[in-house]
Amino acid sequence: MATGVACAAYVSGGRGPSGPLPVNLPRDPTDPDPPSQRICYCRDVDELTIRRAIRAGADSVERLAEATGASTGCGTCRYDLEKLLDEELPDRRTRT
Ligand code: FES
Repeated sequence: MATGVACAAYVSGGRGPSGPLPVNLPRDPTDPDPPSQRICYCRDVDELTIRRAIRAGADSVERLAEATGASTGCGTCRYDLEKLLDEELPDRRTRT
């Protein structure tokens, strides 16, 4: 993990690299997806996106980074990505 690289959203006071981060937007009642917690603040990636990427075959943090961009900024979300990987793929650490 790179050190000394600050999370862009943190440094900019809640603003992402390309402008303000969406905050508490009203939920579309026709949207079938449940509300999803943001996991990666640097790349604005939420939990549902991560879970979908895992179910589509991303079975490591590196593959999640390739698929979603999560963890490619400050890296502080890496633990949360590992946790979601463990939840979705409980036997992944014992595979050979
Ligand atoms: S929160 Fe910074 S890379 Fe995910």
